[in-house]
Amino acid sequence: MSVDVIVGVQWGDEGKGRVVDFYARDYDVVARFGGGDNAGHSLVVRGETIALRLVPSGILQPHAELFIGGGCVVNPRTLIDEFALIGKHGVDPQRVSLSDRAHVVLPAHVEADLRREAERGTQALGTTGRGIGPAYADRASRVGITMRRFCDEAESPEAKLLAPHVVDGVAYVHERLERGARILAEGAQGTMLDVVYGTYPFVTSSSTIAGGACTGLGVGPKAIGRVIGVAKAYCTRVGAGPFPSELENRDGEHLRKQGREFGTVTGRPRRCGWFDAVAARYAVRVNGVDAVALTKLDVLSGIERIGVVTAYASDGRVETHYFDGWEEDVRGVRRIVDLPRSAGTYVQALQRLLGVPVELVCVGPERDQLAQ
Ligand code: IMP
Repeated sequence: MSVDVIVGVQWGDEGKGRVVDFYARDYDVVARFGGGDNAGHSLVVRGETIALRLVPSGILQPHAELFIGGGCVVNPRTLIDEFALIGKHGVDPQRVSLSDRAHVVLPAHVEADLRREAERGTQALGTTGRGIGPAYADRASRVGITMRRFCDEAESPEAKLLAPHVVDGVAYVHERLERGARILAEGAQGTMLDVVYGTYPFVTSSSTIAGGACTGLGVGPKAIGRVIGVAKAYCTRVGAGPFPSELENRDGEHLRKQGREFGTVTGRPRRCGWFDAVAARYAVRVNGVDAVALTKLDVLSGIERIGVVTAYASDGRVETHYFDGWEEDVRGVRRIVDLPRSAGTYVQALQRLLGVPVELVCVGPERDQLAQ
């Protein structure tokens, strides 16, 4: 029996959706284990790009069942809108099941999120404004509303639409595991936004690390098999908080422009910087990462010297190691060994710094632009 886990090792937006889509072909179920509609992933469905927030990225694999686990918080309106959207693109919403233990994000949570952010003024966290923090706070305060209760008690049309999707989440997962099904647990956000192990208090309110797959799906640690860490070839961050490798110069602009680094949910420009090997190594530890999928390598083409932050100094400064850049277009490369020499050296250096193999490299935005 096995649950493999895919997590982001940076501040979210690592391109996990693409990576999940690639690995999902070998799995029977793709399951979200935490977060809510603060997450955003763009997927190309039958030639058209759609943005999803709650439905797992596994939807592109027609055989895969999709599951939203008990560790998630669900805004009913968002999910119903997503069902309509995927239905329009020929994907059957019946494939999506929802744990009875997931919590409901209510309009009052969204209002509280926006109000608290406004009250914080210049100290604002830069949340996505989706009510995620207040919904998790209510869960911890034992006044939240589970999906089971929402569907049993609420008379609203939303509850009636979602009720057929709500299942006993623990039975759902374990019956499948007992049958020998393979489950891929899809993380949301990234390790550095984890509520405990991230850059607190500039974090989200859920457990985004691999351990969160146990609590978010209701499985024991021994059920976890491989852990894949997704790292972008450089770093980005949305919202406030520490970002040691941030670049507020031409290189940062290049990354933002070439990488189209604007939020899927909020449209906000993302802060951009060099690959932070200190943060990524930390993430490899707290997640128990077995292998790394490196995304958006193509965005670095054309940068003369590429930096990697290798140490933090006590005065708040960082040590940056520079690598030769490359001019070549890498989008046609399908084997990691065929990368241009400088790009190959860069990937090998990251591998050495992280101490785990890089087994997949995304070299362009299209679904097949992957090197192994
Ligand atoms: P919240 O999750 O909306 O409470 O936001 C808390 C912090 O997490 C903010 O800095 C957000 O920008 C960040 N955040 C939440 N979801 C994502 C995501 O999917 N990608 C990147 N950052 C996120």
